[in-house]
Amino acid sequence: MAIISCLLPVVALASTALAQCSNSATLTIASAADASPVASCTTYSGSIAIPTDLSDPVGQNGYNSLSVGGVKKITGNLTVSNAVKLSSLEFSNLQSIGGLELGGLTVLSTLSMPQITTVTGLNFTALAALQQLSFGGTGITQADSILITNTGLSSLMGLNNLQQVTTFNINNNPSLQNISLQVTSISGALNIEANDGFVSGLQTSFPLLETAKNMTFRNCSSVLLPSLANVSQDLGFYGNTMESFAAPNLTTTGGLIFVDNVDLTNISLPSLTSVNASYQIANNTMLKQINGFQKLSVVGGALDFNGNFTDVELPALTQVRGAFNMQSSGTLNCSAFDQDNSNKVIKGNYVCKGSLSKPGGANTKPSSSSTSSSSAAQPLNVNIPTVMGGTSILAGLLQFIL
Ligand SMILES: *[C@@H]1O[C@H](CO)[C@@H](O)[C@H](O)[C@H]1NC(C)=O
Ligand SMILES: *[C@@H]1O[C@H](CO)[C@@H](O)[C@H](O)[C@H]1NC(C)=O
Ligand SMILES: *[C@@H]1O[C@H](CO)[C@@H](O)[C@H](O)[C@H]1NC(C)=O
Ligand SMILES: *[C@@H]1O[C@H](CO)[C@@H](O)[C@H](O)[C@H]1NC(C)=O
Ligand SMILES: *[C@@H]1O[C@H](CO)[C@@H](O)[C@H](O)[C@H]1NC(C)=O
Ligand SMILES: *[C@@H]1O[C@H](CO)[C@@H](O)[C@H](O)[C@H]1NC(C)=O
Ligand SMILES: *[C@@H]1O[C@H](CO)[C@@H](O)[C@H](O)[C@H]1NC(C)=O
Ligand SMILES: *[C@@H]1O[C@H](CO)[C@@H](O)[C@H](O)[C@H]1NC(C)=O
Ligand SMILES: *[C@@H]1O[C@H](CO)[C@@H](O)[C@H](O)[C@H]1NC(C)=O
Ligand SMILES: *[C@@H]1O[C@H](CO)[C@@H](O)[C@H](O)[C@H]1NC(C)=O
Ligand SMILES: *[C@@H]1O[C@H](CO)[C@@H](O)[C@H](O)[C@H]1NC(C)=O
Ligand SMILES: *[C@@H]1O[C@H](CO)[C@@H](O)[C@H](O)[C@H]1NC(C)=O
Repeated sequence: MAIISCLLPVVALASTALAQCSNSATLTIASAADASPVASCTTYSGSIAIPTDLSDPVGQNGYNSLSVGGVKKITGNLTVSNAVKLSSLEFSNLQSIGGLELGGLTVLSTLSMPQITTVTGLNFTALAALQQLSFGGTGITQADSILITNTGLSSLMGLNNLQQVTTFNINNNPSLQNISLQVTSISGALNIEANDGFVSGLQTSFPLLETAKNMTFRNCSSVLLPSLANVSQDLGFYGNTMESFAAPNLTTTGGLIFVDNVDLTNISLPSLTSVNASYQIANNTMLKQINGFQKLSVVGGALDFNGNFTDVELPALTQVRGAFNMQSSGTLNCSAFDQDNSNKVIKGNYVCKGSLSKPGGANTKPSSSSTSSSSAAQPLNVNIPTVMGGTSILAGLLQFIL
């Protein structure tokens, strides 16, 4: 393609280049020949789409490949959807692009952009055959949003030098082994979930990350956030298999949530002073001691712990603005929290009970181990519905009674 443009007369090249390097309509590239005008532009102002069926002949394997050289910058989007025979896509000189949207490319195994550094939005969806990114050099260092879902990627090599990203969503990539980013701040949402095919689990590491907005980690085997200082909305961990979690520099968060982390035995947040929204620890079956919150002073929302723990220490607590629910199947000494409750440290509804058969979340009635109060609950269950006539009303009412 580059050769064709070099053969054009200089004047013609200049005028056609002006006309062709900018296009308000999306340019469709179905073959290498269609790509030659773009290849002759350093910057192409417009968007490009690659259709479902390419017109280039297929190779021996029955697949197409497409290679575009020359162009360094595409201001609009490159969209490639459902081109089910496209096995290789190359933009050998491309450094910067708006949106890079690849979806439903079932046999794409080579994605080569050896000079790419900047992408506004990267959206990779359903690229089952893509095992690695051939991004070369530093790879992408700047992106606004990144979404990678349902790919065959085993690592994010090519993205692991990102310096800047706003939203980062990596889900359902069954072969992914690790994620490591060098960003210091993530101003939008981070979501990592269901990348759970790899036998030893997905390891995640954000060694330089200091501030974040809303982070959700699901199904990871480790989460390393050694520099994290502030999270303005939620920091949530669900269904992870790590045995411990530590964030030594974290001082403040919006919400803080640990649910269903079945191997977790140790949470250590020694600098945390405020959780400004809800603070939930639930169903982490191996978590017996909750003593890694020695400086926690303020909980702005509800505190809701349930599980099988026997030791909970929150020695610096000065204020819980919402409800306080602590229920455990383990034996629990509630006297420090009873004290907090009578000292009005706890503003909302207060429950603290151990030795329960079914420790429940906020708004559930503590069901006792064996004896008195489970039978005490019976008359409520029998009497109230006959008056109110509905179990959902009963559930609502129980919250008030409790
Ligand atoms: C590129 O794609 C994004 C996301 O789909 C869209 O918001 C944007 O308008 C597109 N840009 C162009 C130039 O088409
Ligand atoms: C990503 O692309 C898929 C289709 O390939 C589309 O359904 C989805 O809306 C896109 N997501 C974003 C955030 O652009
Ligand atoms: C991530 O996984 C890839 C592929 O197994 C490996 O080459 C790389 O060293 C791993 N990186 C880290 C930081 O563990
Ligand atoms: C943690 O914070 C301290 C004090 O601000 C700082 O010196 C240290 O480098 C931070 N640690 C990490 C791993 O960022
Ligand atoms: C993060 O927390 C530190 C320590 O509390 C504070 O000095 C800093 O201003 C906070 N930064 C942001 C962006 O909230
Ligand atoms: C939490 O509240 C404290 C005190 O009001 C405030 O200093 C801190 O910045 C807040 N943190 C977040 C993450 O909003
Ligand atoms: C944070 O992200 C999670 C997952 O996307 C979402 O469920 C939650 O509502 C978000 N939190 C806030 C405060 O926006
Ligand atoms: C992934 O995490 C969710 C909780 O968010 C959990 O229900 C699910 O069982 C986990 N999946 C695996 C394979 O561990
Ligand atoms: C919990 O983790 C912290 C930080 O890694 C460590 O200092 C502490 O010794 C651990 N506690 C237990 C009981 O293992
Ligand atoms: C904890 O597990 C119980 C029993 O499986 C379930 O009813 C409850 O919803 C779970 N709690 C959370 C916060 O997921
Ligand atoms: C709680 O942990 C103990 C051992 O510490 C175990 O015997 C018991 O079965 C656990 N109960 C529940 C409900 O997980
Ligand atoms: C419960 O903890 C208090 C201190 O908070 C202590 O004085 C008391 O002895 C403990 N009770 C039992 C039965 O361990």
